[in-house]
Amino acid sequence: MTAQPARLLIDGFGRRVSYVRLSVTDRCDFRCSYCMPLDQSFLPKRDVLTLEELALIAGAFIDRGVTRIRLTGGEPLVRRNVMELVRAIGRRLGHGLDELTLTTNGSQLARFADQLFLAGVRRVNVSLDSLDPDRFAAITRRGRLAPVLDGIAAAKAAGLKVKINMVALRGLNEDEILPMLQWCGSQGFDLTFIETMPLGFIEEDRSDRYLPLTQVRRLLDSRFTLQPLAERTGGPARYVRIEETGQKVGFITPLTHNFCESCNRVRVTATGTLFMCLGQEDRVELRDLLRQGGLAALDAALDEAMALKPRGHDFVIERGRAAPAVSRTMSVTGG
Ligand code: 5AD
Ligand code: SF4
Repeated sequence: MTAQPARLLIDGFGRRVSYVRLSVTDRCDFRCSYCMPLDQSFLPKRDVLTLEELALIAGAFIDRGVTRIRLTGGEPLVRRNVMELVRAIGRRLGHGLDELTLTTNGSQLARFADQLFLAGVRRVNVSLDSLDPDRFAAITRRGRLAPVLDGIAAAKAAGLKVKINMVALRGLNEDEILPMLQWCGSQGFDLTFIETMPLGFIEEDRSDRYLPLTQVRRLLDSRFTLQPLAERTGGPARYVRIEETGQKVGFITPLTHNFCESCNRVRVTATGTLFMCLGQEDRVELRDLLRQGGLAALDAALDEAMALKPRGHDFVIERGRAAPAVSRTMSVTGG
Protein backbone atom coordinates (compact mmCIF):
# COMPACT_ATOMS: atom_id res chain seq x y z
CA MET A 1 0.00 0.00 0.00
CA THR A 2 1.20 3.47 -0.81
CA ALA A 3 0.32 6.34 1.48
CA GLN A 4 -2.54 8.59 0.41
CA PRO A 5 -0.98 11.34 -1.68
CA ALA A 6 -0.86 14.59 0.20
CA ARG A 7 -1.59 16.84 -2.76
CA LEU A 8 -4.78 15.82 -4.47
CA LEU A 9 -5.91 17.57 -7.63
CA ILE A 10 -8.93 19.70 -6.71
CA ASP A 11 -10.38 22.16 -9.21
CA GLY A 12 -11.92 25.57 -8.63
CA PHE A 13 -15.37 24.05 -8.16
CA GLY A 14 -14.21 21.61 -5.52
CA ARG A 15 -14.24 18.61 -7.86
CA ARG A 16 -11.43 16.13 -7.33
CA VAL A 17 -9.74 14.89 -10.46
CA SER A 18 -9.10 11.18 -10.01
CA TYR A 19 -9.45 9.96 -13.59
CA VAL A 20 -7.31 10.66 -16.63
CA ARG A 21 -7.94 9.70 -20.21
CA LEU A 22 -4.65 9.54 -22.02
CA SER A 23 -4.62 9.53 -25.80
CA VAL A 24 -1.61 7.59 -27.05
CA THR A 25 -2.05 8.46 -30.71
CA ASP A 26 -4.36 10.55 -32.86
CA ARG A 27 -4.11 7.92 -35.60
CA CYS A 28 -6.77 5.39 -36.36
CA ASP A 29 -7.19 2.61 -38.88
CA PHE A 30 -10.92 3.47 -39.21
CA ARG A 31 -12.60 6.64 -40.44
CA CYS A 32 -15.96 6.53 -38.70
CA SER A 33 -18.18 9.02 -40.47
CA TYR A 34 -19.31 10.78 -37.27
CA CYS A 35 -15.77 11.00 -35.94
CA MET A 36 -13.35 12.17 -38.63
CA PRO A 37 -13.26 13.03 -42.32
CA LEU A 38 -11.92 10.48 -44.80
CA ASP A 39 -8.93 12.66 -45.60
CA GLN A 40 -8.07 13.29 -41.94
CA SER A 41 -4.44 14.38 -41.61
CA PHE A 42 -2.46 13.19 -38.63
CA LEU A 43 0.14 14.81 -36.43
CA PRO A 44 3.83 14.73 -37.28
CA LYS A 45 5.76 12.28 -35.10
CA ARG A 46 7.95 14.87 -33.38
CA ASP A 47 4.87 16.53 -31.91
CA VAL A 48 3.62 13.31 -30.41
CA LEU A 49 4.74 12.31 -26.94
CA THR A 50 7.15 9.39 -26.78
CA LEU A 51 6.02 6.31 -24.90
CA GLU A 52 8.43 7.28 -22.11
CA GLU A 53 6.88 10.75 -21.89
CA LEU A 54 3.39 9.29 -21.80
CA ALA A 55 4.47 7.03 -18.93
CA LEU A 56 5.99 9.98 -17.05
CA ILE A 57 2.80 11.98 -17.42
CA ALA A 58 0.71 9.05 -16.24
CA GLY A 59 3.04 8.67 -13.26
CA ALA A 60 2.81 12.36 -12.40
CA PHE A 61 -0.98 12.14 -12.27
CA ILE A 62 -0.88 8.98 -10.16
CA ASP A 63 1.46 10.76 -7.75
CA ARG A 64 -1.23 13.42 -7.41
CA GLY A 65 -3.98 11.02 -6.51
CA VAL A 66 -5.28 9.89 -9.89
CA THR A 67 -6.53 6.33 -9.39
CA ARG A 68 -7.92 5.44 -12.81
CA ILE A 69 -6.33 5.81 -16.22
CA ARG A 70 -7.94 5.02 -19.54
CA LEU A 71 -5.79 4.79 -22.66
CA THR A 72 -7.55 6.03 -25.77
CA GLY A 73 -6.76 7.38 -29.22
CA GLY A 74 -7.41 7.53 -32.10
CA GLU A 75 -6.94 3.82 -31.87
CA PRO A 76 -4.47 3.13 -29.06
CA LEU A 77 -3.48 -0.31 -30.34
CA VAL A 78 -2.16 1.05 -33.65
CA ARG A 79 0.62 2.89 -31.84
CA ARG A 80 3.89 1.03 -32.32
CA ASN A 81 5.11 -0.69 -29.13
CA VAL A 82 2.10 0.53 -27.20
CA MET A 83 2.35 -2.49 -24.91
CA GLU A 84 5.53 -1.02 -23.41
CA LEU A 85 3.43 1.87 -22.17
CA VAL A 86 0.62 -0.38 -20.96
CA ARG A 87 3.13 -2.45 -19.00
CA ALA A 88 4.84 0.64 -17.58
CA ILE A 89 1.59 2.12 -16.31
CA GLY A 90 0.39 -1.34 -15.26
CA ARG A 91 3.28 -1.52 -12.81
CA ARG A 92 1.61 1.23 -10.79
CA LEU A 93 -1.49 -0.91 -10.23
CA GLY A 94 -1.77 -1.39 -6.49
CA HIS A 95 0.74 1.45 -6.06
CA GLY A 96 -1.58 4.41 -6.34
CA LEU A 97 -3.38 3.23 -9.44
CA ASP A 98 -6.59 1.23 -9.01
CA GLU A 99 -7.52 0.65 -12.61
CA LEU A 100 -6.02 0.78 -16.09
CA THR A 101 -8.48 0.49 -18.97
CA LEU A 102 -8.53 0.92 -22.71
CA THR A 103 -10.97 2.20 -25.30
CA THR A 104 -10.46 0.51 -28.65
CA ASN A 105 -12.13 -0.11 -31.96
CA GLY A 106 -11.20 -3.76 -31.57
CA SER A 107 -9.36 -4.15 -34.87
CA GLN A 108 -6.12 -5.24 -33.15
CA LEU A 109 -7.59 -6.83 -30.05
CA ALA A 110 -7.12 -10.41 -31.18
CA ARG A 111 -3.37 -9.75 -31.20
CA PHE A 112 -3.20 -7.89 -27.89
CA ALA A 113 -5.89 -9.27 -25.59
CA ASP A 114 -3.67 -11.71 -23.68
CA GLN A 115 -0.87 -9.18 -23.25
CA LEU A 116 -3.31 -6.57 -21.98
CA PHE A 117 -4.57 -8.96 -19.34
CA LEU A 118 -1.02 -9.85 -18.33
CA ALA A 119 -0.21 -6.15 -17.93
CA GLY A 120 -3.07 -5.77 -15.47
CA VAL A 121 -5.86 -4.48 -17.70
CA ARG A 122 -9.17 -6.02 -16.66
CA ARG A 123 -11.73 -4.08 -18.71
CA VAL A 124 -11.89 -2.78 -22.26
CA ASN A 125 -14.46 -0.62 -24.00
CA VAL A 126 -14.95 -1.60 -27.60
CA SER A 127 -16.68 0.72 -30.07
CA LEU A 128 -19.15 -1.25 -32.17
CA ASP A 129 -21.90 0.58 -34.00
CA SER A 130 -23.28 -2.27 -36.08
CA LEU A 131 -23.34 -6.07 -36.23
CA ASP A 132 -24.04 -6.05 -39.93
CA PRO A 133 -20.83 -6.42 -41.98
CA ASP A 134 -21.90 -4.08 -44.79
CA ARG A 135 -23.19 -1.44 -42.48
CA PHE A 136 -20.15 -1.71 -40.26
CA ALA A 137 -17.97 -1.13 -43.31
CA ALA A 138 -20.12 1.82 -44.37
CA ILE A 139 -19.94 3.53 -40.96
CA THR A 140 -16.25 2.92 -40.26
CA ARG A 141 -15.26 3.32 -43.94
CA ARG A 142 -11.99 1.44 -43.42
CA GLY A 143 -13.08 -1.16 -40.94
CA ARG A 144 -14.14 -4.77 -41.30
CA LEU A 145 -16.48 -6.40 -38.85
CA ALA A 146 -14.98 -9.90 -38.72
CA PRO A 147 -11.60 -8.99 -37.17
CA VAL A 148 -13.37 -6.80 -34.64
CA LEU A 149 -15.65 -9.65 -33.59
CA ASP A 150 -12.60 -11.91 -33.37
CA GLY A 151 -10.90 -9.30 -31.22
CA ILE A 152 -13.87 -9.05 -28.92
CA ALA A 153 -13.98 -12.84 -28.59
CA ALA A 154 -10.26 -12.87 -27.81
CA ALA A 155 -10.74 -10.23 -25.13
CA LYS A 156 -13.47 -12.26 -23.52
CA ALA A 157 -11.36 -15.42 -23.70
CA ALA A 158 -8.42 -13.58 -22.13
CA GLY A 159 -10.58 -12.71 -19.12
CA LEU A 160 -11.16 -9.06 -19.97
CA LYS A 161 -14.54 -7.61 -19.12
CA VAL A 162 -15.94 -6.12 -22.31
CA LYS A 163 -18.21 -3.11 -22.59
CA ILE A 164 -19.61 -2.23 -25.98
CA ASN A 165 -20.02 1.43 -26.94
CA MET A 166 -22.58 2.08 -29.66
CA VAL A 167 -23.05 5.56 -31.09
CA ALA A 168 -26.76 5.90 -31.86
CA LEU A 169 -27.07 7.18 -35.42
CA ARG A 170 -30.41 8.16 -36.86
CA GLY A 171 -31.19 6.25 -40.03
CA LEU A 172 -27.94 4.28 -39.77
CA ASN A 173 -28.17 1.88 -36.86
CA GLU A 174 -31.43 2.77 -35.13
CA ASP A 175 -32.90 -0.60 -36.01
CA GLU A 176 -29.94 -2.38 -34.42
CA ILE A 177 -30.52 -1.13 -30.93
CA LEU A 178 -32.53 -4.15 -29.83
CA PRO A 179 -30.39 -6.70 -31.72
CA MET A 180 -27.23 -5.17 -30.21
CA LEU A 181 -28.75 -5.34 -26.76
CA GLN A 182 -29.64 -8.96 -27.30
CA TRP A 183 -26.21 -9.85 -28.65
CA CYS A 184 -24.47 -8.14 -25.73
CA GLY A 185 -26.76 -10.00 -23.35
CA SER A 186 -25.88 -13.33 -24.93
CA GLN A 187 -22.17 -12.54 -24.67
CA GLY A 188 -22.25 -11.14 -21.15
CA PHE A 189 -21.19 -7.65 -22.24
CA ASP A 190 -22.42 -4.37 -20.85
CA LEU A 191 -23.64 -1.90 -23.45
CA THR A 192 -23.51 1.87 -23.52
CA PHE A 193 -25.28 4.05 -26.03
CA ILE A 194 -23.67 7.35 -26.98
CA GLU A 195 -25.11 10.47 -28.60
CA THR A 196 -23.05 12.04 -31.37
CA MET A 197 -21.12 14.98 -30.06
CA PRO A 198 -20.19 18.06 -32.06
CA LEU A 199 -16.43 17.48 -32.07
CA GLY A 200 -14.41 18.30 -35.14
CA PHE A 201 -15.36 18.92 -38.74
CA ILE A 202 -16.73 16.00 -40.72
CA GLU A 203 -18.30 15.73 -44.17
CA GLU A 204 -21.92 15.61 -43.08
CA ASP A 205 -24.23 17.67 -40.91
CA ARG A 206 -24.26 15.88 -37.57
CA SER A 207 -27.85 16.86 -36.92
CA ASP A 208 -28.88 14.50 -39.73
CA ARG A 209 -27.58 11.57 -37.71
CA TYR A 210 -28.33 12.83 -34.24
CA LEU A 211 -30.55 10.39 -32.39
CA PRO A 212 -31.42 11.61 -28.91
CA LEU A 213 -31.01 8.82 -26.42
CA THR A 214 -34.35 9.77 -24.86
CA GLN A 215 -35.79 7.95 -27.90
CA VAL A 216 -33.58 4.92 -27.37
CA ARG A 217 -34.59 4.89 -23.75
CA ARG A 218 -38.28 5.01 -24.73
CA LEU A 219 -37.78 2.08 -27.07
CA LEU A 220 -36.16 0.02 -24.32
CA ASP A 221 -38.84 1.12 -21.86
CA SER A 222 -41.54 -0.21 -24.17
CA ARG A 223 -39.93 -3.66 -24.20
CA PHE A 224 -38.33 -4.08 -20.80
CA THR A 225 -38.45 -3.03 -17.18
CA LEU A 226 -35.56 -0.66 -16.59
CA GLN A 227 -34.21 -0.20 -13.07
CA PRO A 228 -32.23 3.03 -12.79
CA LEU A 229 -28.90 2.40 -11.04
CA ALA A 230 -27.50 4.95 -8.64
CA GLU A 231 -24.00 4.13 -9.73
CA ARG A 232 -22.08 7.01 -11.32
CA THR A 233 -18.52 6.94 -12.51
CA GLY A 234 -18.05 10.68 -12.42
CA GLY A 235 -18.55 10.60 -16.15
CA PRO A 236 -21.47 11.31 -18.41
CA ALA A 237 -22.97 7.83 -18.33
CA ARG A 238 -26.15 6.93 -16.50
CA TYR A 239 -26.91 3.27 -16.02
CA VAL A 240 -29.97 1.09 -15.80
CA ARG A 241 -30.40 -2.61 -15.14
CA ILE A 242 -32.76 -4.50 -17.43
CA GLU A 243 -34.78 -6.63 -15.05
CA GLU A 244 -35.68 -9.30 -17.58
CA THR A 245 -32.07 -10.00 -18.63
CA GLY A 246 -29.98 -8.63 -15.76
CA GLN A 247 -27.94 -6.57 -18.25
CA LYS A 248 -26.44 -3.22 -17.40
CA VAL A 249 -27.05 -0.54 -20.00
CA GLY A 250 -25.50 2.92 -20.04
CA PHE A 251 -26.57 6.14 -21.71
CA ILE A 252 -24.04 8.85 -22.53
CA THR A 253 -26.17 11.89 -23.14
CA PRO A 254 -24.07 15.02 -23.35
CA LEU A 255 -26.75 16.75 -25.40
CA THR A 256 -29.96 15.85 -23.64
CA HIS A 257 -28.50 15.83 -20.14
CA ASN A 258 -25.84 17.82 -18.47
CA PHE A 259 -23.42 15.82 -16.40
CA CYS A 260 -20.63 18.22 -15.65
CA GLU A 261 -21.30 18.92 -12.00
CA SER A 262 -19.74 15.65 -10.90
CA CYS A 263 -16.96 15.56 -13.49
CA ASN A 264 -13.82 13.94 -12.09
CA ARG A 265 -11.74 13.71 -15.22
CA VAL A 266 -9.30 15.40 -17.53
CA ARG A 267 -7.85 14.39 -20.87
CA VAL A 268 -4.33 14.42 -22.24
CA THR A 269 -3.83 14.39 -26.01
CA ALA A 270 -1.08 12.49 -27.77
CA THR A 271 0.85 15.76 -28.03
CA GLY A 272 0.63 16.39 -24.32
CA THR A 273 -2.10 19.00 -24.29
CA LEU A 274 -4.02 18.67 -21.08
CA PHE A 275 -7.67 19.50 -21.79
CA MET A 276 -9.74 20.25 -18.75
CA CYS A 277 -13.03 19.52 -20.52
CA LEU A 278 -13.97 17.55 -23.64
CA GLY A 279 -16.11 20.41 -24.88
CA GLN A 280 -14.06 23.49 -24.00
CA GLU A 281 -10.75 24.99 -25.02
CA ASP A 282 -9.17 25.35 -21.56
CA ARG A 283 -5.81 23.65 -21.69
CA VAL A 284 -2.25 23.43 -20.47
CA GLU A 285 0.55 22.30 -22.77
CA LEU A 286 2.53 19.67 -20.91
CA ARG A 287 4.95 18.46 -23.59
CA ASP A 288 7.39 21.33 -23.76
CA LEU A 289 7.19 21.88 -20.01
CA LEU A 290 8.19 18.27 -19.49
CA ARG A 291 10.91 18.40 -22.16
CA GLN A 292 12.40 21.59 -20.73
CA GLY A 293 11.59 21.56 -17.04
CA GLY A 294 11.23 17.88 -16.22
CA LEU A 295 8.93 16.39 -13.65
CA ALA A 296 8.94 19.44 -11.35
CA ALA A 297 7.58 21.65 -14.12
CA LEU A 298 5.01 19.01 -14.97
CA ASP A 299 3.83 18.78 -11.39
CA ALA A 300 3.47 22.57 -11.11
CA ALA A 301 1.49 22.61 -14.36
CA LEU A 302 -1.09 20.27 -12.86
CA ASP A 303 -1.88 22.86 -10.18
CA GLU A 304 -2.18 25.56 -12.81
CA ALA A 305 -4.52 23.32 -14.75
CA MET A 306 -6.87 22.77 -11.83
CA ALA A 307 -7.59 26.47 -11.70
CA LEU A 308 -8.64 26.34 -15.37
CA LYS A 309 -11.14 23.50 -15.26
CA PRO A 310 -14.41 25.01 -16.50
CA ARG A 311 -17.76 24.36 -14.92
CA GLY A 312 -18.96 22.42 -17.96
CA HIS A 313 -19.40 22.13 -21.70
CA ASP A 314 -22.01 23.86 -23.80
CA PHE A 315 -22.73 21.42 -26.57
CA VAL A 316 -25.61 21.98 -28.94
CA ILE A 317 -26.46 20.18 -32.15
CA GLU A 318 -28.56 22.35 -34.39
CA ARG A 319 -29.60 21.81 -37.94
CA GLY A 320 -27.33 23.72 -40.26
CA ARG A 321 -24.98 24.73 -37.48
CA ALA A 322 -21.74 24.94 -39.41
CA ALA A 323 -19.21 24.89 -36.61
CA PRO A 324 -18.76 22.15 -34.05
CA ALA A 325 -18.45 23.10 -30.35
CA VAL A 326 -14.74 22.55 -30.57
CA SER A 327 -12.79 22.00 -33.76
CA ARG A 328 -10.76 19.03 -32.56
CA THR A 329 -12.23 15.58 -33.18
CA MET A 330 -12.78 13.01 -30.45
CA SER A 331 -9.78 11.15 -31.86
CA VAL A 332 -7.59 14.14 -31.01
CA THR A 333 -8.86 14.80 -27.50
CA GLY A 334 -9.26 11.16 -26.60
CA GLY A 335 -12.68 9.57 -26.41
N1 5AD B 1 -19.62 11.82 -30.91
C1 5AD B 1 -19.91 10.75 -30.14
N2 5AD B 1 -19.11 9.69 -30.02
C2 5AD B 1 -17.96 9.71 -30.70
N3 5AD B 1 -16.98 8.81 -30.76
C3 5AD B 1 -16.03 9.29 -31.58
N4 5AD B 1 -16.38 10.51 -32.07
C4 5AD B 1 -17.58 10.79 -31.53
C5 5AD B 1 -18.48 11.88 -31.63
N5 5AD B 1 -18.22 12.96 -32.37
C6 5AD B 1 -17.07 7.55 -29.99
C7 5AD B 1 -16.43 6.34 -30.56
C8 5AD B 1 -16.07 5.56 -29.34
C9 5AD B 1 -16.03 6.55 -28.24
C10 5AD B 1 -14.70 6.69 -27.61
O1 5AD B 1 -16.42 7.78 -28.77
O2 5AD B 1 -17.27 5.58 -31.35
O3 5AD B 1 -17.04 4.60 -29.03
FE1 SF4 C 1 -11.29 5.61 -35.08
FE2 SF4 C 1 -12.86 5.58 -32.92
FE3 SF4 C 1 -12.86 7.71 -34.55
FE4 SF4 C 1 -13.91 5.40 -35.40
S1 SF4 C 1 -14.64 6.66 -33.69
S2 SF4 C 1 -12.49 6.75 -36.58
S3 SF4 C 1 -12.61 3.92 -34.44
S4 SF4 C 1 -11.15 7.01 -33.33
